[in-house]
Amino acid sequence: MGEIKLSQRALQTPPSPIRRLAHLASQARRAGTKVYHLNIGQPDIESPPEFYEGVRRFSDKVLAYEASSGNDRLREAWSAYMNKTLGLATSSSDFLITTGASEALIFLFMTCCDPGDEFIIFDPTYANYIGFAAIAGVKLVQVDCAMKDNFALPDKSAIESKITERTRGILLCSPNNPTGTIYSKEEISMLLEICDRRNIFFIADETYREFVYDDHTPLSVLHLAPRNDRVIVVDSLSKRFSLCGARIGCLLTSNKQVLATTLNLAQARLASPTLDQWAAAYMLENISLDFVEQIKRKYERRRNVLFDSLATVKGAIAHKPGGAFYAVVQLPVENAEHFASYLLSEFSLNGATTFVAPASGFYMQNGRGLSKVRIAYVLNESDIESAVDVIKAGLDSYYTAVPARRSA
Ligand SMILES: Cc1ncc(COP(=O)(O)O)c(C=O)c1O
Repeated sequence: MGEIKLSQRALQTPPSPIRRLAHLASQARRAGTKVYHLNIGQPDIESPPEFYEGVRRFSDKVLAYEASSGNDRLREAWSAYMNKTLGLATSSSDFLITTGASEALIFLFMTCCDPGDEFIIFDPTYANYIGFAAIAGVKLVQVDCAMKDNFALPDKSAIESKITERTRGILLCSPNNPTGTIYSKEEISMLLEICDRRNIFFIADETYREFVYDDHTPLSVLHLAPRNDRVIVVDSLSKRFSLCGARIGCLLTSNKQVLATTLNLAQARLASPTLDQWAAAYMLENISLDFVEQIKRKYERRRNVLFDSLATVKGAIAHKPGGAFYAVVQLPVENAEHFASYLLSEFSLNGATTFVAPASGFYMQNGRGLSKVRIAYVLNESDIESAVDVIKAGLDSYYTAVPARRSA
């Protein structure tokens, strides 16, 4: 029998760089090695008790489908929470609840683009954007951001030079995954100006909005453009409330046509999970405004510990980012993916090893980010220190085995 054909769309979707080496981590664990997971943005912080209380209070006798646009109480609670904490004036009717920000992004690519249309993104980028675009047949066009500039946006002309007649929008994630960079009011205003003038969408992925450190305050694009029909916010409860498994996200826009058209897509998938939405609504109605502030401070301390520890790793280069819980770190190796595999499969220190994500998978362009890794500081402070000790000792052992592995 001949081989059954699979789609190019699926075949060309790259595997997640975060999970690509996961089998090596499983092998290490099976061999009894403790693995420090700095590869994935899965917080270890306990989910709010108010969410579980919401689950307990759910008393419907039938676990029915929710409305395709989402639970009305959740839309109201989310809108009220944003208005209270960010000083905005959102309306619950501007929200469409989705199964994570992931689904919101897939929907938006499909709502804003026909197959072959283009979206501008900034490189390095959240790797799943590449997968979402592949699902929707959208061509991502990258604008390069350099580590030496702390991944700031390049000037307007460099961005505008990427716009073609097929460009449908610009997608920006701030604070950024994978770099942790916070984009400034001026940078976001520049993108808004381009989108207004070129009549294209601006999608702001605000999954990490509240995780800003030092003297930064959370900035939403809605602070700058509260009711602009070209602006769509993508948001998520996953990181802010340590609720990755609840799979609750949303898109938020004053553009009624985008909402109505995306709702058709949402109706085709029926609904997001009823119980999670119910519990999330209860949580948002009852949670102390301090919860996010507390976990933000925890991440800030972890970031500081990470950077103090990295300062002791000879040859490692990284800029201390202002937000999210990620950092891109250049290691003194030729091939960071090979080094990451080595740590998992051939090295341990005091019975433990460290899992970091090779940064090459966060770059659109092949051959970039080869000596870099992305570190997610989602572990407690002492585990972060131990994890960096593993990297440091691992580098020595890696060079001792083959000196040429050291980068020039
Ligand atoms: C930048 C960014 N956007 C979207 C998502 C997806 O989040 P969700 O869990 O809500 O689907 C993530 C998850 O890591 C992310 O980092």
